[in-house]
Amino acid sequence: MKFFLDTANTEDIKRYAQLGLVDGVTTNPTLVSREGRDFETVIKEIAQIVSGPVSAEVTATKAEAMIEQARNEVKWADNIVVKIPMTEEGLKAVKVLSSEGIKTNVTLIFSVSQGLLAAKAGASYISPFLGRLDDIGGNGIQLVKDLRQVLDTYNFKTEIIAASVRGAQHVQEAALAGSDIATIPAAVFGKLWSHPLTDKGLASFASDWDKFQAQQK
Ligand code: E4P
Repeated sequence: MKFFLDTANTEDIKRYAQLGLVDGVTTNPTLVSREGRDFETVIKEIAQIVSGPVSAEVTATKAEAMIEQARNEVKWADNIVVKIPMTEEGLKAVKVLSSEGIKTNVTLIFSVSQGLLAAKAGASYISPFLGRLDDIGGNGIQLVKDLRQVLDTYNFKTEIIAASVRGAQHVQEAALAGSDIATIPAAVFGKLWSHPLTDKGLASFASDWDKFQAQQK
């Protein structure tokens, strides 16, 4: 399973990329706007920090304009994936872009039919939003399981990115559901290796070791 970071913050990306466990990055207009810096500059910097796919979203709403933005974004670095919203115009754009060999990540997926349409249009990635679906009483993990089944049944190469991840539980369940990728906010990523019993165990090992060392003197 691949881990992407869901952030446009280059300091967080540098920090976690050093672990060698970050396979890519996803951004969206909200995440980029939080950085208060020029979109192109931020994406180019991110694409230099990580060698894996970096999703940069289009802001246009009409297919022709999305395609134009996408063709421009992919000139910024070799590892850019163009993020396209799940709309009728977005599907038209994905169809054209995939025929040109431009990788796309169709975002804001909340149903199996949306995911299936995006895969049929040639999306490289689809992003079901777990947290936002859970928020309205849906079941984000069930959606990942269903998408996995549909993509496998029809041999689509499209990869599933579990997005809108709110905690370690989502990451674990997305892995069990067969998601290819989880895109994880930096705050959640930084907690994935923590467990209270690990901390408790380490504290008791350290205290026993200190006692043992004292006895040796
Ligand atoms: C995915 O690529 C999106 O950037 C992201 O996961 C959105 O999640 P949110 O619900 O935390 O905004």
